[in-house]
Amino acid sequence: MTTTEVDLEAQTSKGDLLLEVQDVAKYFPVRNNALFNRAQASVKAVDGVSLSLRVGETLGVVGESGCGKSTLARLIAALHPVTSGRIRFKGREITTLDRRHMRPLRRSIQMVFQDPYGSLNPRRRVGSILSDPFAVHTQMSRAEMREQVRDLMSRVGLSPEHYNRFPAEFSGGQRQRIGIARALALRPDLIICDEPVSALDVSIQAQIINLLEDLQDEFMLTYIFIAHDLSVVRHVSDRIAVMYLGKIVETGPVEEIYSSSRHPYTASLLSAVPVADRAFKNGRKARVILSGDVPSPQNPPTGCRFHPRCPKAQAICSSAEPPLEQKPGDPVGHLTACHFPVEAGEALALASREPTDAEDAEAPDAAGEQS
Ligand SMILES: Nc1ncnc2c1ncn2[C@@H]1O[C@H](COP(=O)(O)OP(=O)(O)OP(=O)(O)O)[C@@H](O)[C@H]1O
Ligand code: SF4
Ligand SMILES: [Mg+2]
Repeated sequence: MTTTEVDLEAQTSKGDLLLEVQDVAKYFPVRNNALFNRAQASVKAVDGVSLSLRVGETLGVVGESGCGKSTLARLIAALHPVTSGRIRFKGREITTLDRRHMRPLRRSIQMVFQDPYGSLNPRRRVGSILSDPFAVHTQMSRAEMREQVRDLMSRVGLSPEHYNRFPAEFSGGQRQRIGIARALALRPDLIICDEPVSALDVSIQAQIINLLEDLQDEFMLTYIFIAHDLSVVRHVSDRIAVMYLGKIVETGPVEEIYSSSRHPYTASLLSAVPVADRAFKNGRKARVILSGDVPSPQNPPTGCRFHPRCPKAQAICSSAEPPLEQKPGDPVGHLTACHFPVEAGEALALASREPTDAEDAEAPDAAGEQS
């Protein structure tokens, strides 16, 4: 066994540094010119992201559609090669691993997707689908595998009696339990949940989140939990990273981000969440209304990428990119990329007008928010 394999399979303890992402970028080439078929431009899906994660932690990653959340997830799971930057897992650089050394990594980092149905072969029985990880990565006999799968099914709240059912015979919530069972099978260290409850009914969302939390405690799992908005991740995350156009614009402990967000974009995301103790105007929630659409990641704005939509933008914002840094008065670990961070109480002032009914209808669903 090589040193690399030993390191990736090493036991970890709660609080150990598990993952370090350093200045990682992923550019997808775009072929604009069909005649010459030359890569002339690129989509900067992830553009200089750094983060770290300790064993047993949950990092929530939030941001609008297309900001690079799934691409970041796929880079960490080594499903895409990085364009630049480094990723270390258990202290071992994984961006340069060859195929053979990738095997232990594939066991250690698993993903749960929004639509488990899309990744479950409809013609195979669930027992057979859940046997795959054992067949690929272990030497178990068929009988041992069957026992493991039945165990796994009951652990995620599925009846082992349903071993021979097809995916279509399960409800949406049960199918997500199958997706979670598949991810859990080989006892990974890190599970990246990419919008795991976005497609589910509100009542089912809470059940799946409870299951993920129970499994985290039982198996000392570390999670990256991706979602569109901040409402669903609040209850599961220890820390949050807010992404905008391929970059992390703010990160910090979850309650710190909720109570004292400093980036205008985070403030706008939070103001779209109807939480009882947040600003209300004449009985309606006050929202920061962003102007314009999200710009293209193929041609991101200069300086601060948020400047065309930012209610606080000044001249410097379009020329100088703000670094992600700790602002005066903020605790260690709360980092913001903004030249003019939001001050206490100012978020309410940013909510300069009430939303129209049409804007209200477009507000992100705050499903699952209990506060
Ligand atoms: N394989 C690919 N080839 C080319 N472009 C891609 C590829 N995957 C993602 N992109 C582009 O990269 C950007 C980021 O996409 P990504 O799927 O990571 O965003 P996301 O934050 O997960 O969005 P959503 O919330 O809709 O899932 C988008 O502009 C997307 O079109
Ligand atoms: S740097 Fe300027 S444009 Fe960017 S978020 Fe801060 S105030 Fe807004
Ligand atoms: Mg995505």
